[in-house]
Amino acid sequence: MNVSLKFRNATFQDRDEIVEMLKEIDEKFCPPLSSREIGIVERVDRVLKKESSEYILCEVDGRMAGIVGYDIHEGWAYINLLAVRPQYSGRGIGRSLLKTAEKRLEERGVKRVKVCTWSTNEKAIMLYKSLGYYVEDILVGHRGEGIDTLIFVKAL
Ligand SMILES: CC(C)(COP(=O)(O)OP(=O)(O)OC[C@H]1O[C@@H](n2cnc3c(N)ncnc32)[C@H](O)[C@@H]1OP(=O)(O)O)[C@@H](O)C(=O)NCCC(=O)NCCS
Repeated sequence: MNVSLKFRNATFQDRDEIVEMLKEIDEKFCPPLSSREIGIVERVDRVLKKESSEYILCEVDGRMAGIVGYDIHEGWAYINLLAVRPQYSGRGIGRSLLKTAEKRLEERGVKRVKVCTWSTNEKAIMLYKSLGYYVEDILVGHRGEGIDTLIFVKAL
């Protein structure tokens, strides 16, 4: 079956659909995005409004399937979000989103990328390691009992 995959930068017009997608995937995050210091709507607004932050969307046959976000700092960038809707998972979309983000960041002169995840997120850990990220720091118990935050870094 032929599917059309499209990657594009998000604009403010995508806001409601991004929020809807993140609400749908909320429980996949540890802790859920909705229970963090900044709520989902504020999180999305911050990125869409800030000049130094961006979201890249992946659309499959016109439907939003995944998203990656980053904040650009002086010479380095922080991946603030990576998510793929469960029904599109395992098809290489997460990997393609991250690689697309890295390419954009490289074009903008970014030399170092950071991304965080939690120690029980096997998929994300495998993904980051396979793309050349390594663990720079571990915040023990940061996500809950027995669940650490892993800070991954990669030089572009
Ligand atoms: C993590 C996530 C973004 C991966 O997206 P995806 O589109 O399913 O991932 P891909 O199909 O591109 O797979 C990328 C790699 O992940 C790893 N992976 C995928 N499924 C896996 C599984 N079931 N077990 C272990 N590793 C797995 C593999 O390394 C895979 O590469 P490969 O297929 O070449 O072996 C997605 O599962 C997701 O949105 N999870 C919830 C939110 C989240 O955890 N975000 C990231 C952490 S902040």
